[in-house]
Amino acid sequence: MAAAERRRRALITGITGQDGSYLSELLITKGYDVHGIIRRASMFNTGRIEHLYRDPHDPEARLFGHYGDMTDGTALRRIIEAVEPDEIYNLAAQSHVRVSFDEPEYTADVVAMGALRLLECLRDYVARTGRDVRMYQAGSSEMFGDAPPRQSEATPFQPRSPYATAKVAAHEHARNYREAYGLFVANGILFNHESPRRGETFVTRKITRAVGRIREGLQDKLYLGNLDARRDWGFAGDYVDAMWRMLQHDTPDDFVVATGRSYSVRDFLEAAFEQAGLDWQDYVEFDERYLRPTEVDHLEGDAAKAKDKLGWTAATDFKTLVAMMAEADHELARRERTLIDAGHGEGLTALNG
Ligand code: NAP
Ligand code: GDD
Repeated sequence: MAAAERRRRALITGITGQDGSYLSELLITKGYDVHGIIRRASMFNTGRIEHLYRDPHDPEARLFGHYGDMTDGTALRRIIEAVEPDEIYNLAAQSHVRVSFDEPEYTADVVAMGALRLLECLRDYVARTGRDVRMYQAGSSEMFGDAPPRQSEATPFQPRSPYATAKVAAHEHARNYREAYGLFVANGILFNHESPRRGETFVTRKITRAVGRIREGLQDKLYLGNLDARRDWGFAGDYVDAMWRMLQHDTPDDFVVATGRSYSVRDFLEAAFEQAGLDWQDYVEFDERYLRPTEVDHLEGDAAKAKDKLGWTAATDFKTLVAMMAEADHELARRERTLIDAGHGEGLTALNG
């Protein structure tokens, strides 16, 4: 392909995750070639992006995978050199807060050191080629921790987990590389965002999966921890658009991305069970395993800056989000039921997390 025809190229770490899949869809729609870093696993971990994949020999192929890992700086460097991206989205993470208390060193390695490794690759690549390459760093509202709501870009971080402290480190590395080397690195500070593709051990998906399975007689109890925590839950499909907008902005900056409304875990439970005509109190039991040594009580974001500078607002409200997830998970449970009725196994194993 002649240089003039070269499509814009994005490189996504964490492409196999929830956000990676929505972002890939968005970028392909916008005409990008999308390259993603996939970590080697003993089973396929590409379920969320399979619908976008075509054989790379197919001229219509727009999605390309590269084996790599955030703990392996040499591989990251090699991939950047080979892909020659215009935009890099750093989404890879051990992203489960509770798990980060069990695996703090690994979490810090992937999240904080991983971001630093990527920034080092970017620094050298830009110095060598002189190209304008822009990077998005996936920061989190978890970084605010104990800070009272509503939290904005001006709110000081008070992280409460190894995951959150690692995200703060990554955020600060990104700011430092922006200032020290003039790199275009944007920090997103995204509040919780969910979807039917959300990992099944995060509380929203754990709830909607359980509701679907209870409706189909596949599960009779749901074990949860703290129901009082409040979160600002949005739809992941809306939030990846904010990531892209950050990299189209004229200057690299930090942006809070949120709906501006918060609900408790109990509110989410009520809404999801109500959707199925069920009373959550008949099914939910407490299990202290799901408590965290330090909890984040209340996250509610002020995304005025993203609205003002990026023209971004959350399009999906809480009720619509719960209904979308509950419906998708009812369909999934129906399929499990059909398989079981046809004598094909026992369905999925009980959900944890
Ligand atoms: P996710 O579904 O957990 O996806 C995480 C991705 O990172 C997966 O593709 C995962 O690969 C990959 N990954 C994990 N460890 C890796 C490693 N060592 N090397 C390379 N890749 C690795 O997370 P998400 O919800 O899409 O979130 C995307 C990013 O935004 C994360 O950085 C998360 O911390 C951050 N964030 C999320 C939210 C939210 O509410 N969703 C809010 C704020 C910030 P596998 O598929 O192989 O596991
Ligand atoms: N996972 C889980 N499982 N959480 C539970 C449970 C349970 O059984 N019971 C209660 N909770 C409570 C947690 O204690 C927490 O207060 C709240 O539900 C939300 O938990 P998660 O869904 O695991 O999300 P999170 O807020 O800890 O972290 C997510 O959002 C962050 C942004 O604020 C993750 O996606 C992070 O990666 C992300 O950065």
